[in-house]
Amino acid sequence: MKVLLLNGSPREKGCTYTALKIIADELEKESIKTEIINVGSKSISSIGTDDADSSEFVTSIAKEIKNYDGFVFGSPVYYASPNGTFISFLDRLFACCNDFAQKPAACIVSCRRGGASSSLEVLEKYPQFYSMPLISSNYWNMIHGNTPEEVIKDEEGVQTMQVLGKNMAWILKCIENGKKQGIHPPSLPTKIKTNYIQ
Ligand SMILES: Cc1cc2nc3c(=O)[nH]c(=O)nc-3n(C[C@H](O)[C@H](O)[C@H](O)COP(=O)(O)O)c2cc1C
Repeated sequence: MKVLLLNGSPREKGCTYTALKIIADELEKESIKTEIINVGSKSISSIGTDDADSSEFVTSIAKEIKNYDGFVFGSPVYYASPNGTFISFLDRLFACCNDFAQKPAACIVSCRRGGASSSLEVLEKYPQFYSMPLISSNYWNMIHGNTPEEVIKDEEGVQTMQVLGKNMAWILKCIENGKKQGIHPPSLPTKIKTNYIQ
C-alpha cells in the first residue's frame, strides 16, 4: 500500500512538509509506503485558463493517482485560506482525474496562529465530493509555527499528525483486509446534476 502526500507550500522543506513527514513516518512504521511531492513551489494557474505548463504538470500527477491507496493534502494558511496555487492545482487535478473515488484522504494545514479551521474546510471539500473517507485525529488536523523548528515544538500539533498517520494506516489495512473478505466499496451511481432546475 502506498500513500501520496501533497505539499501545497512554496517552501519545499517548511512547516507543512514537517507535518507531512511526521504523518509519513507513522505510515512507514506500519509498513505503508509514502511519497511526498511538492506542488506549492510550481506556478499553477487557475482552472479554465489556457496554460500548457500547468496542464502538463497536473496531468503528470493525475496519471499516477491510480497507483496510490490514500492521500494527504497539506497546505500553509494564507489569509485564513489554503495557498492559492494549491487550490488551483487541486481544482485542476480533481477535474481531470477519476482515480480518487473511495480512497481515504486527510487534509492538514500549518499556520502561525489563526485561520486553520477555515482552510481545512476548503481542502476537505475535494475528498468529500469524491466519496473519499476522511481521516481524522484527536484534534483538528492543524499544526502551528512559522518555521519547522517551531512546528516541532508544537507538541499537540505533532501528536495530532502522529495520531492521524496511525489512523490512516488502520483504515487502509481495514480496507485491504475487507477486500480480501469480499467487502468492496459500493458501486457509485451515475451522478445526477440538476443545477436546481426541474
Ligand atoms: C502571505 C502569507 C499569509 C499568511 N497568512 C496566515 C494566516 O492567515 N494565519 C496564520 O496563522 N498564519 C499565516 N501565515 C503564516 C503561515 O501560514 C505559516 O508560517 C505556515 O506554517 C507556513 O508553512 P510553510 O512553511 O509550509 O510554508 C501566512 C504566511 C504568508 C506568507
